[in-house]
Amino acid sequence: MNIAVKNVVDTFNDQFLHKASLIVRSPGRVNIIGEHVDYNEGFVLPAAIDKAIYVAVSKRTDGQINLYSVDFKEKFEVAIADIEPTKTWATYILGVADQLIKRGYKIGGFNLALDGDVPIGAGLSSSAAVECATVLALNNLFELGIDKMEMVRIAQKAEHSFSGVMCGIMDMFASMFGKKDHVIKLDCKTLAYEYKPFVLHGYKIVLLNTNVEHSLASSAYNERRSQCEQGVAWVKAHHPEVNSLRDVSMEMLEKQVAPKDAIIYNRCKYVVEEIQRLLNGCKDLEAGDIAALGKKMFATHDGLSKLYEVSCREADWLVEQVKNNPDVLGARMMGGGFGGCTINIVKDAAIPKLVEKLTNGYKEKMGLNLSAYIANIENGTEEVVI
Ligand code: GLA
Repeated sequence: MNIAVKNVVDTFNDQFLHKASLIVRSPGRVNIIGEHVDYNEGFVLPAAIDKAIYVAVSKRTDGQINLYSVDFKEKFEVAIADIEPTKTWATYILGVADQLIKRGYKIGGFNLALDGDVPIGAGLSSSAAVECATVLALNNLFELGIDKMEMVRIAQKAEHSFSGVMCGIMDMFASMFGKKDHVIKLDCKTLAYEYKPFVLHGYKIVLLNTNVEHSLASSAYNERRSQCEQGVAWVKAHHPEVNSLRDVSMEMLEKQVAPKDAIIYNRCKYVVEEIQRLLNGCKDLEAGDIAALGKKMFATHDGLSKLYEVSCREADWLVEQVKNNPDVLGARMMGGGFGGCTINIVKDAAIPKLVEKLTNGYKEKMGLNLSAYIANIENGTEEVVI
């Protein structure tokens, strides 16, 4: 039994004094390119990684939900009839239970232990991993027969309603549908998707965690979303066929948005450019030209930092340091922003030295510790056979 599975199994036994009925592993994710476009109906290129959340569950007969988190060394108990959002880690699990009940699925009380190694607040979607783990665990435990796409929607809705972040579908989709050694090209408008082999001959994905999570992250995220909607509304007034930034061209933005509001114009411009950048980036990937894809990642960072304004000085500094380094093909902030990780494509042999140099420099410049992880691409959410 792998060590992470053993840990969650042992924790479950210690807390609940019986054996778990089943274990689910649900991974965090990276996104190569296509940031802040999922809720604008663009394309994204994420993958599930080898950092995951593990949950162990069993049924209860008294209508209670009893939870335990290893990370927080904390219990959380509530009657199923009294579920409501909390400001704790438990909210992601309760949000999923709440969605299942609202959709008419018959679930009873349950015990659940939660463990894992997806760093929290690092932009690797630990919350989506918890939600996906929970929805698959409850689906299997109560034999609900829900398909994967519906589970993704349930997880996304749980995030909206119980943590208040109006996220797109990328994180849950990547966690649920991930495939070893492949990225997923997901069309967030139609939800059509395609697996693409992600082969990096001699290079690796290195995540550099700024170890900061600026407090405005969720309010700023929701604000970006409404700014994009405002831009679409201005264009739609003249082009009724337009429903999202996916349908908008630069010409439309110049005409309908630029004269009205410079900030909203910048937000929309970034998104329209990023949608196109991803499509071109996919062509690079198909041609095996990771260097060209990497250049686009730098361009994405520039847009996220200057036009979309969701980066922060820590992430900007990290990207700046590797910009002219021939061992680094591409780098950018990843995920919602305002902290979290940068994603870097780095030559294998150069990784240890680069990490050492950046760790020292980051400490000196920001007074903070840098964490570095190599991300390998793994399968998505699955029940673990024990
Ligand atoms: C967060 C959200 C996603 C997506 C990214 C930005 O991770 O949960 O839906 O919008 O930010 O690309």
